[in-house]
Amino acid sequence: MNKYKLLTNLRGLMTPDPSQLWKVDTLDDPNIAISEGRIAWIGRRSDLPSEYSKYEQLDCMGRWATPGFVDPHTHLLFGGDRSQEFNRRLHGATYADIAAEGGGIRETVRATRLATVAELVDIGESRLQKMRSKGILHVECKTGYGLELESESRLLQAYSELIERGWSLDITIMPAHDIPVEYAGRADEYIRMVSEEWQPELVRRFPKVASFCDIFVEAGVFTSDHGRQVLESGRKLGLKPRIHADEFVHTGGAELAAELGAASADHLMFCSEKGMADMARAGVVPTLLPATTLFLGMKDFAPARAMIDAGCKVALASDFNPGSCACIDPLLILRLACLQLRMTFEEAFTAMTLHPAQSLHRNDIGHLFQGAKAELLLWDVKHPLELVYWMGEAYMPEIVSPR
Ligand code: NIG
Ligand code: FE
Repeated sequence: MNKYKLLTNLRGLMTPDPSQLWKVDTLDDPNIAISEGRIAWIGRRSDLPSEYSKYEQLDCMGRWATPGFVDPHTHLLFGGDRSQEFNRRLHGATYADIAAEGGGIRETVRATRLATVAELVDIGESRLQKMRSKGILHVECKTGYGLELESESRLLQAYSELIERGWSLDITIMPAHDIPVEYAGRADEYIRMVSEEWQPELVRRFPKVASFCDIFVEAGVFTSDHGRQVLESGRKLGLKPRIHADEFVHTGGAELAAELGAASADHLMFCSEKGMADMARAGVVPTLLPATTLFLGMKDFAPARAMIDAGCKVALASDFNPGSCACIDPLLILRLACLQLRMTFEEAFTAMTLHPAQSLHRNDIGHLFQGAKAELLLWDVKHPLELVYWMGEAYMPEIVSPR
């Protein structure tokens, strides 16, 4: 991409406004000026300052420009798949039944431990390519299918190679994703090991790779106290907390996220009203994963409306993983947010762009205002609302990018 470029012949532009809560701006017949990989100016074509009219032009052929989607919760790297387990669930077994028999996450752990770094990088690259082709330009990725030091280390090595190859990622360390077989019945001991030995060692081996830490606080897995231990020790290492919270039952995960000043609390199908108020007060971004609710065949979608009313900046994510959401489809999430979480189109769009970027502490993605990274999507639609309205349609954006 040249140093300077002017995007012309756009039908419209839609972007959340980072300076105001839940405000989405649309503009007809806009131009976008790009300089040195950043957005230098957006506005009506008729208002274009003369300095930008000399820029090399890119004809956008009457399409709409939006920021790229930001996915703030994925388990990108894992070996194998769990299609057999999926079928068992269709025959009546529950997610919890399968986990209790040693399947579920542990099944994926067995396959992931066998994968080499090179294999993990290949798997990751093909998944990221698929995400990108559908408009996801930045992805949060967790470890957590190694559950032993060397396997978790290989996952971090693979993530670090993917970043070197130019993928735009944020990495989260999550050995507390489940209790590995080696520690069955000894969750306290495992958590002590993760907090006191593994997290420090992983950060020492990969000093600049991960920015976040995470834990699955859930009945039968890890308690709030375990959460506090892992996340506080992560914070001392410079990792910002995220939490898998209140997914199957209310465990007080949202309240804990607020207490610890976590960047996000994720899932939250069974979040309490107090949890919502606490998150709003503490600036925790509730991150909702409606494709997981769908994939698990559950009826209780997260209470997005109540969270918005409580003053939370809600975000949406895929939760891409082999057990509870084998799905790379940002438009499905947008559609579920509108139709099941009862968010407006503008809210759902903001929750897939600006708010996830903010939960990852990035201010130059998720919007198209001046200074934003000049990587954006062009959609061949009369209005972006069509992306939700024509429900089964597999719209594919064109990507304008400095890469
Ligand atoms: O976010 N809840 C824990 N982790 C994943 C599920 C992982 C799996 O089933 O492999 C989730 O839903
Ligand atoms: Fe998850």
